[in-house]
Amino acid sequence: MSHEDFPTDEPAVVTCGLPYANGDLHIGHLRGYIGADAFSRALESLGQETAYVSGSDMHGTPVAVNAEREGVDPEDFALEWHEQYEETFPQFAVDFDNYGHTHDETNTELTREIVRTLDDEGYVYEKEIQVAYDPQADQYLPDRYVEGTCPYCGAKARGDECDEGCQRHLEPGEVEDPTSAITGNPAEYRERTHKFFAVSEFADYLTEFLDCLEGTSNARNQPRQWIEDGLQDWCITRDMDWGIDYPSDEDGEEDLVLYVWVDAPIEYISSTKQYAERVGADAYDWEDVWRADGEIVHVIGRDIIQHHTIFWPAMLEAAGYNAPRAVAATGFITINGKGLSTSRNRAIWAKEYLDEGFHPDLLRYYLTTTGGLQQDVDFSWDAFQEKVNGELVGTVGNFWYRSLLFSHRNYDGTPETDVSDEVESRIEAAIDEFHGAVNNYSLREVGLAATRLAQFGNEYIQRNEPWKLTDDAPDRAAQVIRDCVQLAKAVGVLLYPIAPGKAQALWEQLGEDGDVADAEVEAALAAPPRTFEEPAELFETLEDDRVAELNDALETRIEEAASGTDAGGTTDGDDGPDAAAAETESDDTTGGESAGMTDTDDLEPLLEDRISFEDFQDLDIRVGRIESAEGIDGADDLARLEVDIGFETRQVVAGIKQLHDLDELPGTRCILLANMEPAELFGVESNGMVLAAGEDADLLTTHDDAALGEKVR
Ligand code: 2FM
Ligand code: ZN
Repeated sequence: MSHEDFPTDEPAVVTCGLPYANGDLHIGHLRGYIGADAFSRALESLGQETAYVSGSDMHGTPVAVNAEREGVDPEDFALEWHEQYEETFPQFAVDFDNYGHTHDETNTELTREIVRTLDDEGYVYEKEIQVAYDPQADQYLPDRYVEGTCPYCGAKARGDECDEGCQRHLEPGEVEDPTSAITGNPAEYRERTHKFFAVSEFADYLTEFLDCLEGTSNARNQPRQWIEDGLQDWCITRDMDWGIDYPSDEDGEEDLVLYVWVDAPIEYISSTKQYAERVGADAYDWEDVWRADGEIVHVIGRDIIQHHTIFWPAMLEAAGYNAPRAVAATGFITINGKGLSTSRNRAIWAKEYLDEGFHPDLLRYYLTTTGGLQQDVDFSWDAFQEKVNGELVGTVGNFWYRSLLFSHRNYDGTPETDVSDEVESRIEAAIDEFHGAVNNYSLREVGLAATRLAQFGNEYIQRNEPWKLTDDAPDRAAQVIRDCVQLAKAVGVLLYPIAPGKAQALWEQLGEDGDVADAEVEAALAAPPRTFEEPAELFETLEDDRVAELNDALETRIEEAASGTDAGGTTDGDDGPDAAAAETESDDTTGGESAGMTDTDDLEPLLEDRISFEDFQDLDIRVGRIESAEGIDGADDLARLEVDIGFETRQVVAGIKQLHDLDELPGTRCILLANMEPAELFGVESNGMVLAAGEDADLLTTHDDAALGEKVR
């Protein structure tokens, strides 16, 4: 990869986490696929050669368990879901250049080849380990066939992931108090020989890799802690039939399949290869991307950061492949403030959204612009309505329609005059914002660059009142409307990655030829055709009674699922990369078990007295940012801080003068107890308390994008 800004001279590939082919798609899945699609389109708008690929994840226990529950062959089961996904994605304008699956020949062959290389290079070894076994079912219990307690955080966990707790990957044998998911009986541990990939040998490599990695800060920072804690080697085989067989050794006596997380990411390469084979290496050469210096961008859910920043880059390095340039890890989706849950039917299903007849671009816009990429995004029909009616109908649609209508009625199309300097500069600034946003992996800013431009357009038209000028100042009126038509086109060009369908409709209303998809951002400044037809409105107001119906329907089916009168009406698939742990997530940004591990003898004893939740509610704890820090004259330990908490900036006195480099503090996010009684120390009033841990005053902070002033609960 290069480390230049996009666009670069190297071809790029954008991927999204492969969905397990085991159940209906929902909004949690869609966030990632739409996000990656929008990012890939945005790169193309910048002129970056890009392929967007993915595929269905066919193997592993997530598929085998569900197939078994339905009493069908896992291959038939997975293929059926795969075909359904292939049909569903285009309906959300998720436009893969190639969508394969992990069980196809390309991926099976490539996986074997890569594993053989790992073996040949000496990175694979055998070890005897304890594997969970169900004596009644007479079978080994890999991954989701076993449940128990996470040894790191104590949460209920599956065999290979702490999905309800710290999100860590768990190795076979690690889960405590194992219970068989088949019979519900306690499982026993039996000794088996398995293959291990020596990830621990890549600690230095991975540290350097992370130093260069782009994407979201959670994906760049969390893995450092795992490396510092010491990397464990990774068991890459499982005792099951469904999967890709471990490539036989000389004796040909292997009876193990590869762990699903080996062949799944290899599909990123296989899918790129299939695309290149289809279009020809002259059009797109997969080896330039994966074997040379192409730009690899992975968009994933934040629950699979470890797989993409530790196991996967180590495998790529060991097998002689290129390293990812960026890992962008999205937050989870919640529904009406609660965790998405397929089993409780608290989800917005892909099919349900489409059946309601909503345009895909509305959801695309909602999901990409509601929060930063790594923030959790709450979905409610009320918030959806607000977003659609406010930003899409009120700002973008309104501006498009009034500009084009006025222009069509008075000039039969685009007035024949040049764009003003003011408007040209404003469009250039929006293009710069778009460019910056793509390079910061901020889809929200990509979308908002377009919406803000439309907002400017509405203000511009309002400020200049062209309808008052047509008779008395016709040249001026033509100028204003010429500017508006250009702004409308620019909004369409910039909104294209997020709302490709609506952008294309606008493109056609302007009388432009071809596809907006083929236009690059500079087209925002190119004159639209001289004439165009009367436009139609491109966005429709979402009415209150419709929203009330949607709310009722959602509530009813959640209640039905809870009372057992409806099983959800859908196969209970995996909650997906974005949603898997949303319900009980605990953001393991510190890296789990041993971050800050201490001898408990050194700690202050835990208080016996408990406080009520109401007592806790009395504490008004807020996210803040230290704006300035200086020592207080005459006080050895005290510093005066100015802390921005969104609503206001507070002066706070903190005992950290000796413990922190005060010059380094401005810009640091902190956590402030905002309703602390005011106090005066050394003549300086203190209006709050900055929270810190331990003797060294380790300042508490946030790890995602919580806004200043956000309440800590
Ligand atoms: O967590 C999941 O849903 C996996 N199916 C994602 C696989 S992504 C990739 F690496 F293959
Ligand atoms: Zn855990």
